Amino acid sequence: MNPEEMRSKPNSKKRSLANSDSLLMTSPISERVENLLGRMTLEEKVGQMTQVEKDSLPAGAVKRYFIGSVLSGGGGNPVNNTPAGWLEMSSTFEKEALETRLGIPILYGVDAVHGHSHVVGATVFPHNIGLGASRDPDLVKRVAGATALEIGATGVHWTFAPCVAVPQDIRWGRTYEGFSEDAELVATLGAAYVSGLQRGEDLGSPGTILACPKHYLGDGGTTWGTTLPYPWITDNPQGVNPRYKIDQGDTQISEAQLREIHLKPYIAAITAGARTIMVSFSSWNGVKSHANHYLLTDLLKGEIGFSGFLVSDWQAIDQIDADYYKCVTESINAGMDMIMVPFNYLRFIENLKRAIDHGDVPASRIDDAVRRILTVKFELGLFDRKFAEESGLENLGSEDHRLLAREAVRKSLVLLKNDHHTIPLDKSVPQIILAGTAADNIGIQCGGWTIEWQGCAGDITPGTSLLEAVQQAVSMETIVQYDEMGFFADDIQAEVGIVCMHEIPYAEGVGDRAELTLNVEDVNLLKRVRNRCQKLVVIIFSGRPLIITEQLPLADTWLAAWLPGTEAQGITDVIFGDYPPVGRLPYEWPRSGSGPNQIFEPTGTGDIAPLFPVGYGLH
Ligand code: BGC
Ligand code: BGC
Repeated sequence: MNPEEMRSKPNSKKRSLANSDSLLMTSPISERVENLLGRMTLEEKVGQMTQVEKDSLPAGAVKRYFIGSVLSGGGGNPVNNTPAGWLEMSSTFEKEALETRLGIPILYGVDAVHGHSHVVGATVFPHNIGLGASRDPDLVKRVAGATALEIGATGVHWTFAPCVAVPQDIRWGRTYEGFSEDAELVATLGAAYVSGLQRGEDLGSPGTILACPKHYLGDGGTTWGTTLPYPWITDNPQGVNPRYKIDQGDTQISEAQLREIHLKPYIAAITAGARTIMVSFSSWNGVKSHANHYLLTDLLKGEIGFSGFLVSDWQAIDQIDADYYKCVTESINAGMDMIMVPFNYLRFIENLKRAIDHGDVPASRIDDAVRRILTVKFELGLFDRKFAEESGLENLGSEDHRLLAREAVRKSLVLLKNDHHTIPLDKSVPQIILAGTAADNIGIQCGGWTIEWQGCAGDITPGTSLLEAVQQAVSMETIVQYDEMGFFADDIQAEVGIVCMHEIPYAEGVGDRAELTLNVEDVNLLKRVRNRCQKLVVIIFSGRPLIITEQLPLADTWLAAWLPGTEAQGITDVIFGDYPPVGRLPYEWPRSGSGPNQIFEPTGTGDIAPLFPVGYGLH
C-alpha cells in the first residue's frame, strides 16, 4: 500500500498519516523534523512542550491545545485498572492527538519503576535497591526488557525510569529507588536498564520503550532538613508535605563532588542511548535544578552533548518563584524542554505564550525545545508505529516475566548472618512457624510505586507472598503454621521459625525518616517466636537498611530481601537451598542512628563504623 492509499483508508492502524509528513517517511529524521517545525504555529509548539496528567484532561483537550505528552502520575490509573483498561486509556489520548491538524503523536509516560507496577496483574520486579544488590547488569537489562514489553502492550511509550540517584543518606524516602550509594554501580546498572528498555541501538525498533533517567542532578545528595515549603503552591498539598525532610532538599556540595558522585550515571545512561532526562526537584547550593542554566544547558547539553530533551518533574517549576510567570521563563530559559504540568496547563500555556510575545523567552529557545521533542518522537518511530493491540496484553504478568522476577529476587537477597549454617533449611523439616504481617502481604512486599503512588498494604495485585512460597517449597509432610502476630500455642516447639519484618510502603518524601528503627510490633513478635522454635530466620522487607544491632543476636539467620515485588519464591529458592545467596550490600548497613547527620556518613569509622560495609554479603 502506498502512503496515499493508507491515508484514505479511515480504519488504518498506521499512525499519523493525516499530514504531508507521510510523503517524507523515508527522509532523514532531521529533515522530517525541520519540515514539521516549519509548519507549526506558536500554539502547536507550546503544546508540544506541555505534558499534562491524564485526570486533568477532559475529552477534546489534547486536540484543542495540541498537548505533546500525557502522563499517569503515581496512582494515575484508569478506573478499570486492568491491562485492557490501560490500553483503552492510552489509546483514547493517542487517537485524539492524531486528529490535530498536523497529527503529531503524543508520548504517553508512566512511572513504571519496578515493572509496569501500577497495572493490576503486571509483573512487579524488585525495586532498584534489590537490583543493586545483585550487581548484575545482564539481569538488570533483562528485567528492563521484560518491563518494556509489559509497558508497550498497554500503549504506553515512555517510562520515568531508571532512577539513577546515588543516595548518600538512607533516611531519604527514595533510597530504594537508587541502585546503590556507589556511583560506579549506579552508572553500570542504570546504563543496563536504559539499554534493556530501549532494546539496544535503534530506538525505533519494535517494542522499544523510551527511558528517562532521573532526577538530574544531585537528588541523592540533599542535606537533611533542607526541604523548603512552598506556601504559594496550593493545588497539590502533597507536594509540600511538611513530613518531607530531605527529599527535594538542597545538595550542599562542591562541583567536583557533584560530578564525581552524581553526574557519572547520566554520562553512562546517555552513552547507552538515553534521549530524555527528568530534572530534579532538589537544589544545588541553593539554586533549583529547574532554573539552573549551568547544569541544564552548559553542562548537560553543552559539555556532555546531550541532544535529547529534558522533562521537568511534577509541578516542579512552580517551586522556583511565587510568581508563576517567572517559573515559566526561568525554567525554559535555563534549558527545560517539556514541562510536566499535572494540573493547570492552561495557565502554563498562557504564561509561556505571553513570555514569547514579550521577548522574555526567545523564539529560538522554543524552536530548540520543540526540535528536540520532535526528534525523539521520530526516533522512537511514533509517527510510523502501529497502535498496540489487545493481543499483546498477555505479556502482562506472563509466566516468563514472573520467572525472571523470581530470578531477580533470588539474586538480590543479601545474607547478613547465618550462624550454624541455619540456611539452607531442610524442605522436609516437620514443622515451620511463620510470623509477621509482611509474610502474607503482596502490597508490603512490593513497597511504594505499586498500584498507588505510595503503594499500599494488602492484596493489591496477583503474586506469590512469602507464606505461599514457603507452602509451595516444603514437603507434603511439613506443617507450616502462620500467625501474623506470632502468637503460637504454648506447646509448640517448631524446628524452624521464620519472622518477616518490614517497613510500611511509602514513596518520595513521605518516606523520609529520622530514625530507621524496626517497628515495635515486629521486635515483639521476634521475641515471641524465638521462644517457640529451635532455628530462627529473619527476613526483612524494607526500602533500606534498618537498625538491627540490638536484635541481631536473637536470630540465627538474617536476610535482607529489600522490596522484592510479586514473586517471593525467589526467597524460598535461597532459604531452602535450591540456589546460593549471591547479593551484596549496595548501601552500608549502619550500626546505630538517631538524629540528623550522625551516623549516615558514607564511610564511618570508630563508633560510627557500619554494622556491615558496602559489598558485604555471606555466600
Ligand atoms: C517524582 C518523579 C515522578 C513524577 C511523576 C514526581 O513527584 O519525583 O519521580 O516521575 O512525580 O509521577
Ligand atoms: C502524584 C505523584 C506525584 C506526587 C508529587 C502525587 O499526587 O500522584 O505522581 O509524584 O503527587 O507530589
